[in-house]
Amino acid sequence: MAPIELPDPDMDGSISVERAIATRESRRSFARTPIELEAVSQLLWAAQGQTHVRDGVELRAAPSAGATYPLTVFLEVAPNGSEELEPGVYRYDQQRHALERELETAVHDDLTTASHDQVVIADAPMTIVVTADDDRTKRQYPDHGERYVHMEAGHVAENVHLVCESRGLNTCPVGAFTDTAVAAALSLPTRLAALYLLPVGHRPAEQE
Ligand SMILES: Cc1cc2nc3c(=O)[nH]c(=O)nc-3n(C[C@H](O)[C@H](O)[C@H](O)COP(=O)(O)O)c2cc1C
Repeated sequence: MAPIELPDPDMDGSISVERAIATRESRRSFARTPIELEAVSQLLWAAQGQTHVRDGVELRAAPSAGATYPLTVFLEVAPNGSEELEPGVYRYDQQRHALERELETAVHDDLTTASHDQVVIADAPMTIVVTADDDRTKRQYPDHGERYVHMEAGHVAENVHLVCESRGLNTCPVGAFTDTAVAAALSLPTRLAALYLLPVGHRPAEQE
């Protein structure tokens, strides 16, 4: 299946970074409206988008120890989560700024179960799933590699959180889930482990 090209990310947010930091909080409820492809583009670019090339190395939106880039970002789309994307699982290709469809069936119920039935996952139209191949970083940093990978996932989550704040979207970082169940829900390759779930959705009218 051909990749789904994402629109170019917008480089001018509606509020300053400082304002986004000041107002950011974990928001666990969502409007029942689909998320537009423009917002998907913005969120995935903030997570792992390719930003520039330095000394022949393609650098991304979040820093990475030794530019080892162990992370792969997936997007789970719930039924009715999008008007442009079918329910299922997509992998973000940062080089093309595009989505590769990985699973053509909805896995929303399985992902919800895997995260201990947290309502924030159940109600989210989409969830960004940050996964890692630890070995990429451990090869270069045998002692600290694992720690570095976790730090990197935190950078990604904060980027996504701040972009949500800037665009009036809600998100809440979710770390409480059963690793094997998330991997099974997304049919992750064995080299990838799920580290972080970032459910996203529009802000309900009463919170605006
Ligand atoms: C690593 C990590 C894991 C978290 N896991 C969950 C989670 O599984 N479910 C949840 O509702 N909130 C989760 N949170 C959100 C925290 O509860 C929240 O950040 C904290 O209460 C502080 O609130 P604030 O984010 O609004 O400042 C997590 C936060 C972090 C940093």
